[in-house]
Amino acid sequence: MRTHYCGHLRANHVGDTVTLCGWVDRRRDHGGVIFVDLRDRTGIAQIVSDPERTPDSYKLAESLRNEYVVRVTGRVTQRPPESLNPKLDTGEVEIYADQIEILSVVRKQLPFQVSTAEQEPVREDLRLKYRYLDLRRERMSSNLRLRHQLIKTFRRFLEDEGDFLEVETPILTRSTPEGARDYLVPSRVNPGEFFALPQSPQLFKQILMVAGCDRYYQIARCFRDEDLRADRQPEFTQLDMEMSFMSQDEILALNEEMVCQVFKTLKGVEIPRPFPRLTYAEAMGRYGSDKPDTRFGLELVDVSDVVQDIGFKVFADAVSKGGIVKILPIPGGNDAISNVRIKPGGDLFNEATAVGAKGLAYIRVREGGEIDTIGAIKDNLTDEKKAEILERTGAQPGHLLLFGAGDTDTVNKTLDRLRQVVGKELGLIDPDKINLLWVVDFPMFEWNADEKRLDPLHHPFTAPHPDDLDDLKTARAQAYDLVYNGFEVAGGSLRIYQPDLQQQVFELIGIAPDEAREKFGFLLEAFEYGTPPHGGIAYGIDRWAMLLAGEESIRDAIAFPKTQQARCLMTNAPSAVEDKQLKELSIASTHKTHK
Ligand code: AMO
Repeated sequence: MRTHYCGHLRANHVGDTVTLCGWVDRRRDHGGVIFVDLRDRTGIAQIVSDPERTPDSYKLAESLRNEYVVRVTGRVTQRPPESLNPKLDTGEVEIYADQIEILSVVRKQLPFQVSTAEQEPVREDLRLKYRYLDLRRERMSSNLRLRHQLIKTFRRFLEDEGDFLEVETPILTRSTPEGARDYLVPSRVNPGEFFALPQSPQLFKQILMVAGCDRYYQIARCFRDEDLRADRQPEFTQLDMEMSFMSQDEILALNEEMVCQVFKTLKGVEIPRPFPRLTYAEAMGRYGSDKPDTRFGLELVDVSDVVQDIGFKVFADAVSKGGIVKILPIPGGNDAISNVRIKPGGDLFNEATAVGAKGLAYIRVREGGEIDTIGAIKDNLTDEKKAEILERTGAQPGHLLLFGAGDTDTVNKTLDRLRQVVGKELGLIDPDKINLLWVVDFPMFEWNADEKRLDPLHHPFTAPHPDDLDDLKTARAQAYDLVYNGFEVAGGSLRIYQPDLQQQVFELIGIAPDEAREKFGFLLEAFEYGTPPHGGIAYGIDRWAMLLAGEESIRDAIAFPKTQQARCLMTNAPSAVEDKQLKELSIASTHKTHK
């Protein structure tokens, strides 16, 4: 049907007769001559219909509307100097249309303009409902291309350089413990029984190592019924990997090589190796986060020992109850951040309380080292203590020191959040900077206060650090996360491959031997038949695509995403089903009776 793509035409095609197919991006009438921007996946070509030079096509050109699908045959011509368009790759040429054929028309009013020339923002619900139109637009079509490039680069590296084998694992399977709720699928032929959609291929990839696969990868769809955020979807894609007979350092080195290849191919940037590593303890201590954005400073400082006895009850209580007092020192914060913003009702106060803080104490450092602070601190702070706080935080005149006091988790969450808000506001984050780091030495478990039990921080198959086997409860894990500009973009670990150690871990997290056998018996049994030491990692493809595209929402990196309410606005899924279907599945909905 066509000889060329629109976006591929260049000056060297001048004189050729070409046939192009695509959408009318827009039509402009210029004193008797009609210009049509014809768009396909590759870009835009300018079609000219001149009643004198190409009279046959002129009538048809007049009837063209935006988004009509047409086929155009004509001669490629050099544009006159005054109409060269350096913004377009095809801007040196235009095509005089001898023949225009309308292949398909637009019968309804467009819900929004698709044209590249129309930059106005469109409401997201409309974009999602008419996703096929949204995907035609430059922003989304280039995001899709970038995502494709990303996956292609991963595949090339893994297959051509790493000797990885792609293996598909089931979608209809048993529950995999990644800590979220499962999506369940009832089995018609096994009434009363359910498949779970995989939260990740974790168990299968470990079994593949037992099976001697040695190096596995998969572009794997994962399903997690969890509360959604800007960087989470209920259905998302992982680049999932597992390797046998490799140490943690070897695994990280191989992954660094692959990530560097991605940045080189997609961005033309060389990233220095090895990537920096932070232990979990360091990351939490210095940034209050296990995925710190280290493109900027504003590091936190622990002052528990200095302030616990200054006579301020909030600080004393925090420390005596096993908590902590930390400071977020903000250079220049004195001028930039007013008291109104820190006090009840202020935006920073609200940010802090949204993650559980009770309030925000502060110290302002004035010229000459004088300080302003809230009464309760001012009344009690000796010169000695004051000097110690200033020294430890490196505070200079102009600094604002914000305090977090309470249980360690809340303090870290609060100051992490404030650090990010303030970092952005003060322009400390260079958007062009690429910041990659490993966070390592996670603890094996965290205390789940609601359920009063230990939960695995990563998942229950993660191997403990060999130096910490004496006390598994407090052991570090051989787990690692890759952080890219403050986002967790990959996570993995070395695995337990000894059935008895695996059993111990199950017991510690409250999975009784019977339950372990019932849920993971096949894995434990497989381990009885000769298991290689192994480990792996999974990358969040959607997050990578989002970050590489410079988008703020994961939805802009996915062709057909779900809303925050886990709905697809285009197909209107999920939807009610017929009673007959439910009956066949031996299912009854309790929804109506709840209402
Ligand atoms: P984890 O649960 O850390 O590890 O997931 C790996 C990576 O997947 C991405 N991710 C998500 N992306 C979008 N929406 C979500 N809801 C979502 N949840 C996770 C993140 C994350 O770093 N089986 C282990 C991997 C392993 O141990 O090998 C796992 O799934 O970028």
